[in-house]
Amino acid sequence: MLKIEGLTKRYGSVAAVDGLDLEILEGEFFTLLGPSGCGKTTTLRCLGGLEKADGGEIFLRDRCLVSVPQHRFVPPERREMGMVFQSYALWPHMSVFENVAYPLKLRHASRDEIRRRVADALRLVGLEAYSERQAPLLSGGQQQRVALARALVFSPQVLLLDEPLSNLDALLRDEMRHELKELRDRVNVTMIYVTHDQVEALSLSSRIAIMNQGKLDQVGTPQEVYSHPATPFAQTFLGKTLSVPGRVASSGSGSTKIIIEGADDFPLHVSSSAERLRTTTTFAVGDAVDVAIRPEQIRVWPERPDGQPNIVATRVRSALFVGDRYEYVIELGHSTPVLPLPSNQVYQADEYLYLEFPEAAVTIWPK
Ligand SMILES: Nc1ncnc2c1ncn2[C@@H]1O[C@H](COP(=O)(O)OP(=O)(O)O)[C@@H](O)[C@H]1O
Ligand SMILES: [Mg+2]
Repeated sequence: MLKIEGLTKRYGSVAAVDGLDLEILEGEFFTLLGPSGCGKTTTLRCLGGLEKADGGEIFLRDRCLVSVPQHRFVPPERREMGMVFQSYALWPHMSVFENVAYPLKLRHASRDEIRRRVADALRLVGLEAYSERQAPLLSGGQQQRVALARALVFSPQVLLLDEPLSNLDALLRDEMRHELKELRDRVNVTMIYVTHDQVEALSLSSRIAIMNQGKLDQVGTPQEVYSHPATPFAQTFLGKTLSVPGRVASSGSGSTKIIIEGADDFPLHVSSSAERLRTTTTFAVGDAVDVAIRPEQIRVWPERPDGQPNIVATRVRSALFVGDRYEYVIELGHSTPVLPLPSNQVYQADEYLYLEFPEAAVTIWPK
């Protein structure tokens, strides 16, 4: 439905968006996920027409919205895209009704149509009773719902949302996240969502694009990106990762043997399928690597289990209670990574434990 080719936007010498290629399907909830400053907002503003790209093209179905080589730029109000921002950007001197009606007035809709459509949009976000209220008198969550209604009122083909929940406090954010999910199921509109929050990205999206320094690292379903990260950046940015330096001890066809730095007595086998779902790198004996695993894949044994492969001995250095889990600083060879475990797994400082790294759960990244 939406196709982006080679999109580039520079500010001085900084490429905020750097040759981005992307295709988004009809009806998707597509999320751009990445750290602050990676270019998410700039990408969204180029899509909405609030920013002029320096390179590339954007197509909505067969319609060319932007073509830098052909000097084509369709203005925002003719792009059929609704927009919601982190700051709700409501007009403070207007009522809820007037705020939501504004895009329809811009489009010269009739009085009857405006009344009908505004009522529908307010019903959609559960604010039909607040129509005459002045916008600033609403709570943050309500204001954001007005902004949503305003963005949806002219039945846009695409809804662009830039961190719409990040100004809300934690409880309200969780609630609004569930509401957005329901809205997504009720309204037939393609959504492009920008966030740096991995829970929002995982729970709302049909697909996620992980963005890093103006480029895309990986695009896939939440499950794909979480379980099969394509890059170390994708792995550490989305979800928790325990990562320690190591080296390749031997490399066979089915399995690679690695040693965590300083844990020579505990070689680990990594299956080649797990190792290289990701890149085409092949490893040679002696290569320095990063050994990475999702903490929930690690199994903890109080005693060394007999005959069990892929066990590494460790000592607990310190324990931090953080409510739903403990964060243990552990000694793993020469490294001291953090191992989060559910709060029913209680260990003490100085305790010795044996960690099982299941062969298929370990990723090795070249250094
Ligand atoms: N109007 C601007 N002028 C100069 N630099 C900008 C401007 N907008 C964004 N940038 C820079 O572009 C990069 C990407 O910014 P942005 O798209 O806002 O990232 P994100 O939304 O992912 O936090 C950052 O380095 C930022 O400082
Ligand atoms: Mg931003």
